[in-house]
Amino acid sequence: MLEHPRRPEDRAPVGTTPNAHVLAGARIQREVALDRIPLVVLLDQLVELVKRPAVGNGTPALGERLTVVSVLVAQRAIDTTELASLAGDAGVDIANAFHPARTNAALEVGLDRTLRLTRATGQRLALARRLVEVLADDALNGRALLLVEKVAVLVHGRQQMFPDGARAYAEHVSLPPFANEPVLELRRVAARTQLTDALAGLDLPLHVPIWIGEQRRDGEQLVSTDPGDPQRVVALAARATEEEAAAAVASARRGFAQWSAVPAAERTAALRRAAAWMRERRAELAALALRETAKPWADADADVCEAIDFLEFYARGALELDAGPALLQAPGERNELHYVPRGVCAVIAPWNFPLAIPMGMAAAALATGNSVVLKPAEQAPGCGLRVVEALRAGGVPADAIALLPGDGGAGAALAQHPDVATIAFTGSGAVGLQLLRTAAQLGPGARQLKRVVAEMGGKNCVIVDSDADLDEAVPAIVESGFGYAGQKCSAAARVLVHESIHDVLVQRLAGAVQGLQIGPADDFATDVPPLIERAARDRVRRYAELAAREGTPALGARDVPQDGWYCAPMVATGLPPDSDLLRDEIFGPLLAVEAVRDAEQACDRVDALPVALTGGLFSRNPRTVDRVVARSPVGNLYINRAITGAMVGRQPFGGNRLSGTGTKAGGRDYLLHFVQPRVVTENTVRHGLVV
Ligand SMILES: NC(=O)c1ccc[n+]([C@@H]2O[C@H](COP(=O)([O-])OP(=O)(O)OC[C@H]3O[C@@H](n4cnc5c(N)ncnc54)[C@H](O)[C@@H]3O)[C@@H](O)[C@H]2O)c1
Repeated sequence: MLEHPRRPEDRAPVGTTPNAHVLAGARIQREVALDRIPLVVLLDQLVELVKRPAVGNGTPALGERLTVVSVLVAQRAIDTTELASLAGDAGVDIANAFHPARTNAALEVGLDRTLRLTRATGQRLALARRLVEVLADDALNGRALLLVEKVAVLVHGRQQMFPDGARAYAEHVSLPPFANEPVLELRRVAARTQLTDALAGLDLPLHVPIWIGEQRRDGEQLVSTDPGDPQRVVALAARATEEEAAAAVASARRGFAQWSAVPAAERTAALRRAAAWMRERRAELAALALRETAKPWADADADVCEAIDFLEFYARGALELDAGPALLQAPGERNELHYVPRGVCAVIAPWNFPLAIPMGMAAAALATGNSVVLKPAEQAPGCGLRVVEALRAGGVPADAIALLPGDGGAGAALAQHPDVATIAFTGSGAVGLQLLRTAAQLGPGARQLKRVVAEMGGKNCVIVDSDADLDEAVPAIVESGFGYAGQKCSAAARVLVHESIHDVLVQRLAGAVQGLQIGPADDFATDVPPLIERAARDRVRRYAELAAREGTPALGARDVPQDGWYCAPMVATGLPPDSDLLRDEIFGPLLAVEAVRDAEQACDRVDALPVALTGGLFSRNPRTVDRVVARSPVGNLYINRAITGAMVGRQPFGGNRLSGTGTKAGGRDYLLHFVQPRVVTENTVRHGLVV
């Protein structure tokens, strides 16, 4: 049994009390500051729990189960008979007025009485207020800590004590900690067979409709083909018109009204069911990504895993955000801050992470209660279709997630629509800047400032100091520069190497790159697959010719397969400082190597760039590491490792300067871009209550 603390100094900080494990298990977002939060705030949490809107009619949904209020009371703090009679006075139906048989959870924290009250939805708030009043009176006797723990257990207790609601509650609210989805072990024959079987089983071409609510319009205006075999059609998609973009937004407005009213726990559950849907189909999804965008197996599998990670990560984040931050409270006043969804979100996605990126942006918007119109890249509509299918299969209402395949025009029409509140974009800098301009222009009827979440390109530099371990640096640079043929936004494009080791690094890089296997994505041995499309191949070839004219290619010419959009990997040296090759995002397998005097000069060159997405450093000197960390402007800096492969939750990802609006996908703050804060202040001095 807990002793009642009498003085503030008697209170042990949360984390050191005997109850810490219970609090941790309860996953209460405010647990960190529990012992410092004024009592009134904690009591307000009780009100908040009871206030949660119920959803659905007929079968109780999760939100309805949450209407059960469990109040655990300390024997010596509160007279349970008083509470019971209070509830009776309020006309409350007491299911288990006094619950001596179910005291396990209470005993765990030294409390020994449980009062469980159930109430019809409309009267819950009134009941909660009455309880708060009684508890508040009691608190004047200096038993704040007990009450603190009561509120903590209030959440925990629901998981343990209510057989019907408990499982659902535990499943959705007390989630296991986030962990990245493990990638497949491609060395294992079974894993490889699973993937190749899935590839053989793909039923192509996929037909990708404009999918607005329950309405589908098929079409064949967009043809997505296998970059390694352009004769093979992977998907036939409708191309959305401006009218269809408007219809999708109108549907999403209806979807917003519906979805934003769903409690965060239920949204979380839907996202997690979408993750489960993808998990069950991961081989098939990886096979589709491989066919549609020529992602080699390891990258395609990682793309599926990342999409699942985004769903799981933002699902948890939405619950955290829903709790809202603690505000300062003064006597007689209650202050609350809640994050509410912004409205319709236009998600405009690139092709190079054809599942992960559209899913990440859509999941973040949906987790926080927005509705989404997804415009997938014209090169990967098939993957876009799977993203929407997963979300709908998870339980996101049809009106809350629309699919709008199309080209840039469809994206522009969508972004311009006055009812779009948020534009979540990942793609090239040119389009991102255009979208920022679009958002700044208020069209007729606009009632909201558009927010733009934009993740754009970079010119990613790796600094190699004279003391670097080249056995480590060379394979990491090759992986960063040539993995997926240099088509990751994080890919290495420039190497700034100390002049004393320039020649030896170039020689070793050339040897390693010469050994890379160029081939189709479905060959497990392939290092460098084809580029996404003819225009990309032609662009990279032009830059390769420029590199040969302006500098010194470090590699001999190589044959590449004739079918498909292949480009030989290239390492270029001796480029003039004003070369376009050192500034433009080439987005292909072309790496420029430059000699620098020292790390400071390397930092100067990085700093001179207007973009700042990723960067890397190889050095064994801690002072150099500190110096480069301090000077580096990039969003993601990697030390002594490859600069690609950011993991959700571990390396929140996104660029600075012209590379992005500073949002970090896969990080805790990301969801804040999809919500707006709302503060409510109430005078709580008692003035009677109309029930
Ligand atoms: N920073 C990141 O996280 C990140 C991640 C992946 C890709 N990228 C960047 O994406 C680029 C490659 O992708 P991409 O070729 O698909 O980019 P892109 O800008 O050409 O296309 C991206 C999306 O925008 C649409 N679009 C094109 N014009 C539009 C317009 N005027 N209005 C609205 N939408 C329009 C496209 O149809 C597509 O869906 C590279 O620059 C790469 O660095 C960045």
